[in-house]
Amino acid sequence: MKKQSLVLVIFLFSFRLAFAVEGMWLPMLLQQLNEDEMKSMGMKISAEDIYSINQSSLKDAILLFGRGCTAEIISDEGLILTNHHCGYGQIQRHSSIEFDYLTDGFWAMSRAEELPNPGLSVTLLIRMEDVTSKVLEGVKPDMTEKLREDKIKNNIRLIEKNAMEGTSYAAKVRPFYYGNEFYLFITETFNDVRLVGAPPSNIGKFGGDTDNWMWPRHTGDFSLFRIYVNKNNEPADYSPENVPYKPKHHLPVSLKGAEKGDFTFVFGYPGTTKEYLPSYGVEMITEHQNPPAIRLREKRLDIFDSFMKQSDLVRIQYSAKHAGVANFWKKMIGENRGIKKLDALNKKRQLEDDFNKWAAEDPRRIEKFGRLLSEFEAIYSKLTSLKTDETYLIEAGLSVETFRFSYAFGQLQAYNKNSKTTDAELNELIGKLKTSGDNFFKNFHQPVDQHVFAEMMKDWFSHREAGSIPAGLLSASKKYGENFDAWAEATYSNSMFTDQSKLNAFLDGYKPSKYRKIEKDPVFILAGSVYDHYIRVIQPEVRLLNARLDSLQRIYMEGLMEFQPDKRFYPDANSTLRVSYGLVDDYSPADAIHYRHYTTLEGIMEKEDPDIDDYVVDPKLRALFQSRNYGRYAAPDGTMRIAFIASNHTTGGNSGSPVLNADGHLIGVNFDRNWEGTMSDLMYDPDQCRNISLDIRYCLFVIDKLAGAGHLVSEMTIIE
Ligand code: ARG
Ligand code: GLU
Repeated sequence: MKKQSLVLVIFLFSFRLAFAVEGMWLPMLLQQLNEDEMKSMGMKISAEDIYSINQSSLKDAILLFGRGCTAEIISDEGLILTNHHCGYGQIQRHSSIEFDYLTDGFWAMSRAEELPNPGLSVTLLIRMEDVTSKVLEGVKPDMTEKLREDKIKNNIRLIEKNAMEGTSYAAKVRPFYYGNEFYLFITETFNDVRLVGAPPSNIGKFGGDTDNWMWPRHTGDFSLFRIYVNKNNEPADYSPENVPYKPKHHLPVSLKGAEKGDFTFVFGYPGTTKEYLPSYGVEMITEHQNPPAIRLREKRLDIFDSFMKQSDLVRIQYSAKHAGVANFWKKMIGENRGIKKLDALNKKRQLEDDFNKWAAEDPRRIEKFGRLLSEFEAIYSKLTSLKTDETYLIEAGLSVETFRFSYAFGQLQAYNKNSKTTDAELNELIGKLKTSGDNFFKNFHQPVDQHVFAEMMKDWFSHREAGSIPAGLLSASKKYGENFDAWAEATYSNSMFTDQSKLNAFLDGYKPSKYRKIEKDPVFILAGSVYDHYIRVIQPEVRLLNARLDSLQRIYMEGLMEFQPDKRFYPDANSTLRVSYGLVDDYSPADAIHYRHYTTLEGIMEKEDPDIDDYVVDPKLRALFQSRNYGRYAAPDGTMRIAFIASNHTTGGNSGSPVLNADGHLIGVNFDRNWEGTMSDLMYDPDQCRNISLDIRYCLFVIDKLAGAGHLVSEMTIIE
């Protein structure tokens, strides 16, 4: 008997270590769908502790940060933590050659030094609610898709309106499982969010784009902000009178660390996943969209690189742009490799064959699901060529910055001699355009964009059978034959959208009769033809096909759920609050290679290379390493832990998300995925997919020992 139970324990233990759970789950359904499993994996708190509408819970500390990241509240004075790369835009905007916070870091030593960030907001979820039956009220099975959609839209409008009535909250209904279910989200948004601290880039971006999407990783990817509110603790626009926000909950910070097999969960705002696409969709993305996008981005990055090396100003101007372009470029490469290694297309095809066999088994299924996959196939074959066109249009055409910038000046066309608009309205628009010019030219270096233009056109024109070229570009290029550099040179030197002084001279004393000059501007003309092609030729057809796909995907989702009744389905990510959970775990990316689950400061010293930007080590960090002055932030084995990996299913948008332990205490900040696992947006592999988190002890160590900002650590609730 004793022996038997020992065997059982060993069995359970080894089972636990292999435990990886795919999925991004709805916080309000955890109790029903996940709590038992989470507890069996080691969780000590309850689903109600994570999400509750009756009492304060962890969800009251989780924020949507800006448009695409997550942040968490870590003190009762509204201090919030997110990634360095999530605050990057703000840090950059406060940086200049004189105050180079990007390079040197920034630390507010008092509240008065915290820097406001116009345009930045953070949003809290107040509660969510299943409103499926209300949304589908009056929807009949035999309705046309159009009628169905109208009915649903109307119902949603009413639900949102009622939910907001008498509150200062926002309400939004979002579809889940491709329109099979609907949830209402009540949220509160804060607009006065100030920068509190950021490490120098050689910590916050250590490893740079070289290490991005990769494990082993040593990036100190964090930054600190603070929410300010009015005297009644309510959201308010920026005002010097505002005070720090008093949250309902802030996350306690644990110094206990993360070891192999430990339960963890990630609470945040994953952006988009497409786990239930048919094989045709995955094929379109990985074989027709990713490859040209990868190649075009590579060319753009080479140009950025060569100019950024030559000038500090250009380096600052293009740093955020470079990071953005490089990030998705590398993601697509990893995704394509992962899909291939996983043999994902064949797995999908197998599932589809089985689904079709099942659907053929009875007349009702034949009627409802029998033609689904062949319809998918027909639509995707049309969509694939359009989406390839679109890829070139966006990745080649709209990667030219002056195209995107100049297009807005078309608004002036409405202000012609005959229009009824007043001078005041015209002046307001001119003012706006001037401001947009200030913002644009602050981070613009003409030779960079001119080179991008030449290279993008060269590539696009040599792949015209794949990505159809707008008529305006074709005709304008004629004069220059194959000489794209000459075309670029002529276009850029004859345009006013490439030079702020020319543009301002034109805008000063603007009269409607001057509009002709815009219409004749070579950059404006080319931009117009690119947008025109997109808006008139590509977009309407894509919309039409997508609408048909939406309804097919809805029925397919319903069919999959019926076909696999024992499978627990999670809805694809859609930028709503989710919980992913898993265990701290190592992995083996390839034959004979094994990756440990954590990295240490030793690894930073090993990577150090003063000649390579990405691997310059901060001298203060080196000194702290040499004296092993880690204080209470050291791991029990005496090392300084930098990052760790776990099998939480995450995606873009989860950046900055808290990584919590079995007690619901903060042990890390999610900031990336491993390259071998980036296909998890399309198909998850428990064996290969890991999320990468900053170890919170390294974060505190940097704040306290390196930056000397221990007052910020004192604000937090530290669990030793
Ligand atoms: N790959 C991470 C994410 O998708 C980090 C990106 C920022 N870092 C960088 N080196 N570009 O956002
Ligand atoms: N870095 C990503 C973000 O900004 C998270 C990595 C991922 O895609 O999982 O959200």
